[in-house]
Amino acid sequence: MNLEQIYKSKVVTAAQAVGKIKSGNRIVAGHACGEPTEVIAAMVANCEAYENVEIVHMVAMSSSEYAKPGMEVHFRHNSLFVGGNTREAVSSGRADFTPCYFSEVPSLFKGNLPVDVALIQVSTPDEHGYCSFGVSNDYTKPAAECAKLVIAEVNNRMPRTMGDSFIHVSEIDYIVEVSHQIIELQPPKIGDVEKAIGQHCASLIEDGSTLQLGIGAIPDAVLLFLRDKKDLGIHSEMISDGVVELVEAGVVTNKAKTIHPGKIVVTFLMGTQRLYDFVNNNPMVEMYPVDYVNDPTVIMKNSKMISINSCVQVDLMGQVASESVGLKQISGVGGQVDFVRGSNMCEDGKSIMAMASTAAKGTISKIVPLLAEGSAVTTGRNDVNYVVTEYGIAQLKGKSLKDRARALINIAHPNFKNELIREFQKRFSCEF
Ligand code: COA
Repeated sequence: MNLEQIYKSKVVTAAQAVGKIKSGNRIVAGHACGEPTEVIAAMVANCEAYENVEIVHMVAMSSSEYAKPGMEVHFRHNSLFVGGNTREAVSSGRADFTPCYFSEVPSLFKGNLPVDVALIQVSTPDEHGYCSFGVSNDYTKPAAECAKLVIAEVNNRMPRTMGDSFIHVSEIDYIVEVSHQIIELQPPKIGDVEKAIGQHCASLIEDGSTLQLGIGAIPDAVLLFLRDKKDLGIHSEMISDGVVELVEAGVVTNKAKTIHPGKIVVTFLMGTQRLYDFVNNNPMVEMYPVDYVNDPTVIMKNSKMISINSCVQVDLMGQVASESVGLKQISGVGGQVDFVRGSNMCEDGKSIMAMASTAAKGTISKIVPLLAEGSAVTTGRNDVNYVVTEYGIAQLKGKSLKDRARALINIAHPNFKNELIREFQKRFSCEF
């Protein structure tokens, strides 16, 4: 059979494809904006045919119907990163959460979490029969490589991304042809607090640095203050629209990068169609699986590697909670520790933890004497270096517990400073 015949022999409807899923299977669903929404909808519609199907997923951008009340007999969601759409299912006990570094997810699929079915979304094939993983390479490509069965939405609107980002049609078992908009993430609203944080972070970034930027308003705010920098590079778990602006402004050139010079290296993309158009067939952007991009020993090879991530609480020792408040799971570690470690291991690197000084409309301090009871420590005190709020920068590495506490209290919100100073005096039996 020639390529066209091979391709055609695999094309089925979404309903036919999900008919191949069996009770008890473990399914890995494509990540974030690469979620194969039509196949997942068909699987949910066919729920009466299944019992105890496990759905492994990280950031779920659609409504995650398989995790809704009433689906318990048919599906069990195993979340590797809780998001807004799955938080309630995990906290109510209908879904599970499995802690893991993002970088190790591919090895889990080869070991402790073997994959029966990978549900993926890819671009249309090129003349050689290769489809691109488009916006989500991360764990989606490794899952497809080790799954017993691969069901792919082939979407003519999926951008064709470069790097190690391809699957050959012969490796796909069933193809569902679709033509839908790739899920978009609209740029966040950036307020004065985020701008102040962005400005402090930008002051730590030298020309020629390579950046990792997490998701959300704070990383986007940092980008606003980088317009006068030169030759920045990107080696990041993900990027959004903000990076496109810096490329167009001539600020991100990747020229000073020590690995993959000239290239933006990334494992997934979350943005609007503007970002997806920018990456399409663009050799400047290389996508690799997450066990490469997030490997700290790869990250550290970049010169002046800067990681910028966010968190929900920091205690006076510098312990960072980013994924839970008490026992309530808010998200997951994602790539935070991978990048903190990689940038710390980089000779001239810096790891930055950036957050607003308060939560819940200013009623709660994020700098606290002790983390909330039950909180998971996401980034340990031995790993944390720069902590940034709208009130300034606390640099912790090399500082005693007492001096760390002082530095952190100095960047706390004024409404909570006196309380924190009293705690300091009690703990260290000395003046602040
Ligand atoms: N006490 C109580 N609740 C808190 C809190 C605190 N100290 N800090 C945050 N929250 C609540 C918020 O009110 C919000 O609740 P809501 O959704 O019900 O409104 C929720 O936690 C999320 O907080 P928010 O500040 O809106 O989150 P964010 O979008 O700025 O993201 C993290 C912050 C920490 C959740 C996010 O950066 C993360 O998941 N980090 C870990 C993963 C990571 O760093 N990955 C690497 C880069 S992709």
